[in-house]
Amino acid sequence: MEEVKKIYLETYGCQMNFSDSEIVASLMQDEGYEICEKSDEADVIFVNTCSIRDNAEQRVRRRLRELKSVKKKNPFVKIGVLGCMAERLKQQLLEEEETVDMIVGPDAYRDLPALLDKVEDGQKAINVILSTSETYADITPVRLDKSGITAFISIMRGCENFCAYCVVPFTRGKERSRDPQTIISEAKALFADGYREVTLLGQNVNSYSWEENGRKINFASLLERVAEVDPLLRLRFATSHPKDISDELLKTIGKHHNICNAIHLPVQSGSSNILKLMKRNYTREWYLDRIAAIKKYVPDCAVSTDVIAGFCSETKQDHQETISLMREVGFDYAFMFKYSERPDTLAQKKLEDDVPKDVKSARLQEIIDLQQQLSHESNKNDIGKTFEVLIEGSSKKSKEFLMGRNSQNKVVVFPKESYAKGDYVHVKITGCTTATLMGEADPLF
Ligand code: 5AD
Ligand code: SF4
Repeated sequence: MEEVKKIYLETYGCQMNFSDSEIVASLMQDEGYEICEKSDEADVIFVNTCSIRDNAEQRVRRRLRELKSVKKKNPFVKIGVLGCMAERLKQQLLEEEETVDMIVGPDAYRDLPALLDKVEDGQKAINVILSTSETYADITPVRLDKSGITAFISIMRGCENFCAYCVVPFTRGKERSRDPQTIISEAKALFADGYREVTLLGQNVNSYSWEENGRKINFASLLERVAEVDPLLRLRFATSHPKDISDELLKTIGKHHNICNAIHLPVQSGSSNILKLMKRNYTREWYLDRIAAIKKYVPDCAVSTDVIAGFCSETKQDHQETISLMREVGFDYAFMFKYSERPDTLAQKKLEDDVPKDVKSARLQEIIDLQQQLSHESNKNDIGKTFEVLIEGSSKKSKEFLMGRNSQNKVVVFPKESYAKGDYVHVKITGCTTATLMGEADPLF
């Protein structure tokens, strides 16, 4: 009997990449491969990569060099680079990284079996063709997250916003939405399998758009349809662009208990001058107006953001505007980055990366310190409140405690008692750190 071939998948970058790896796993299982947990047991290793900042790429490069030792032990192992770095660097990556056998861009995963055949024949293989229509709508992802409670559903791909700093429109191609029927079927199947939370994913998730029998379905109407799958299936979505946060969408969130009250809304900068250079298509005032609308229609909504420190020509005054905006909004959480110039982007071609390294670092540190404070304040404000928490599993620190999230996406830890994964439980908050809420189940709530 022939031994079953094994594949090891390693994923870097955003949630979209993790979701893509689940599609790749599905395609490979159909080819008879088994997913394995260790790189040195594998016949094939796929590294699904990220190009968003230079340090993300450097990390992958170091990992590819490390994989040399795996190839030394097992010269037959084949290594494929998938995702954004594959798309950005193409052939160049084959030339620069000798361990790599194949390069596959984010829209070419259906070609993996054919590419692997080529590699088995001793050749190098590459497919980085971007598509205007591929959504992998018919593929049922193999869920790689083992919780069995939360899952991703990818609803659109690509991005055409061309923000001046961003490489994604080049690595992930044109924006395209997925057939809503396939999205709803996927949500129903997940619920039937015991999942209780899905996150709808897209690079610009709220610009989702589909036409069905002459009727337009926008993101708000899609969200509503998925919310109707079952009241016990919670919904989240990421990532939203401020230009597309409509009142209609906010009203839909406010109307449905199972659409979580948490919006990730990257601001990038608090200065309208910088936002203009970034080509974000909104001003500071527009962003603050959208925050006011969130508070109006979804009063207890948590808001998180992304911030870039030290974009081209950013002055001390611009930076201070970012700081003041963060204070004014009082973000619950933030991802914060130093600007990293990316090849071929508008900023790289037209603007100068002129904020000195040490100034960038100091500004980023100030932003991080402020966010720590804001997150802590936001958590302290929750002490005494009771939240509905969906239990995801044991707490990392102790089996005697459970961990879950409230609607606002905050991690809540509380004593296990007789509760179990997948249960909804009301938890009264009694304490917190900057990252976690602690409490006790309140069965009488
Ligand atoms: N440099 C730094 N941060 C970046 N991001 C995107 N491109 C860059 C870049 N060139 C950040 C943005 C985006 C998040 C996913 O990554 O904040 O929202
Ligand atoms: Fe990284 Fe962006 Fe690609 Fe996601 S889409 S992997 S964040 S470059």
